[in-house]
Amino acid sequence: MSEQKPGNRPRTDRPGTSRRAFLRGGSTLAVGALAGAATVPAHAAQPDPAITEIQEWNQYLGDGVDAFPYGAPSSFEKHVIRRNVPWLTADATASVNFTPLHELDGIITPNGLCFERHHAGIALVDPAQHRLMINGLVETPLVFTMADLQRFPRENHVYFLECAANTGMEWRGAQLNGCQFTHGMVHNVMYTGVPLRTLLQEAGVKTSGKWLLAEGADASAMTRSIPMEKALDDCLVAFKMNGEALRPEQGYPVRLVVPGWEGNMWVKWLRRLEVGDQPWHHREETSKYTDLLESGKARRFTWTMDVKSVITNPSPQAPITTGPGPTVLTGLAWSGLGTVTRVDVSVDGGRNWRPARLDGPSLSKSLHRFYYDFNWDGSELLLQSRAMDEFGNVQPTKEALRQARGENSIYHNNGIQTWYVQENGVTENVEVS
Ligand code: MTE
Ligand code: CO
Repeated sequence: MSEQKPGNRPRTDRPGTSRRAFLRGGSTLAVGALAGAATVPAHAAQPDPAITEIQEWNQYLGDGVDAFPYGAPSSFEKHVIRRNVPWLTADATASVNFTPLHELDGIITPNGLCFERHHAGIALVDPAQHRLMINGLVETPLVFTMADLQRFPRENHVYFLECAANTGMEWRGAQLNGCQFTHGMVHNVMYTGVPLRTLLQEAGVKTSGKWLLAEGADASAMTRSIPMEKALDDCLVAFKMNGEALRPEQGYPVRLVVPGWEGNMWVKWLRRLEVGDQPWHHREETSKYTDLLESGKARRFTWTMDVKSVITNPSPQAPITTGPGPTVLTGLAWSGLGTVTRVDVSVDGGRNWRPARLDGPSLSKSLHRFYYDFNWDGSELLLQSRAMDEFGNVQPTKEALRQARGENSIYHNNGIQTWYVQENGVTENVEVS
């Protein structure tokens, strides 16, 4: 590609793939963009109708306290919604939608914006009729009502849930133009629930009990095998998210929380826990939730979600619209093993790295918020972020992932994401190679 010059536009669609590659050879990108943050220039005072005219909301009484018994966001925020990609799945009941990460800040995902993934639609469960049964290799099989569950001591924890298929479309190259679609199968809420350990102890797990089958009450009656060690460690039987009842789409009235592990194990509308001495064979486990390697062999039992990060702003759905000058770059980082201790940001496609600023609570197996405040000189940028967790695990490049696992994978793509920012601020999903 000798005709490639510094600052080339990303090329679309390599023959045979839909990868949009961005060649880095000889790039002199954006070194000047690294100057420290400047003070934000205040607008010089000029006649401005926003100040000189009396606005409508300044003249009339607003709605009363009885107008919105259950509040909703401002009508000016209508665009901040979950979105799906219709061509990804055949129908909307066995489908997924995505969290609008580029519209959010901090670490908590509002309940109405948590991405949804279900195999048979949203079950509408009457909590008064709902039961949770524990059976199998236990001393005393038990059945709990929701009222029973509320009588056990409960705990509050913030955890991310990431679908194993998050970023899966990006294995073979840059595909979807927005972090909502590339990384939006993740949400992070505070759960209130009873430790699973407490309920298992109540039933008395026999020494031969090594596995747990968790079953949902939806039409797919989804089941998952969970090793007893994890069940007794930090799993929760949760009935609240962000302080209120679980949303129907998140498993109302009760779901399993499996911190740091792939989303498909977090069984929603949880109705049964069966203790067994070996893992069950799930239809989906061999066909779906298994990583197919180049060799044709599969990785099985890859439960932990690896250290990962993404820049949420700027990103394709959130271009820079304010021109050169002080710019807030922000994003999210997480690890299924613990806390994130460091995030580095590159503005030149991974040649130079600078530490980002982590802000807000740093909780284990939770999203972390990072910022990189810089003075944009208006030149093209190739933005990347790279997270490291408390055990020293570092987020890999997509190339390194492909070398390790080939191109056939869908699951567990925690590779470094690149956004290409043009001089006009327009931002695209690309890959550097
Ligand atoms: N539980 C039941 N009962 N049915 C489902 O279809 N989907 C699983 C898991 N639990 C599913 C389920 C998958 S694949 C994921 S990624 C998470 O739920 C998604 O949780 P969310 O919808 O709260 O985002
Ligand atoms: Co999933």
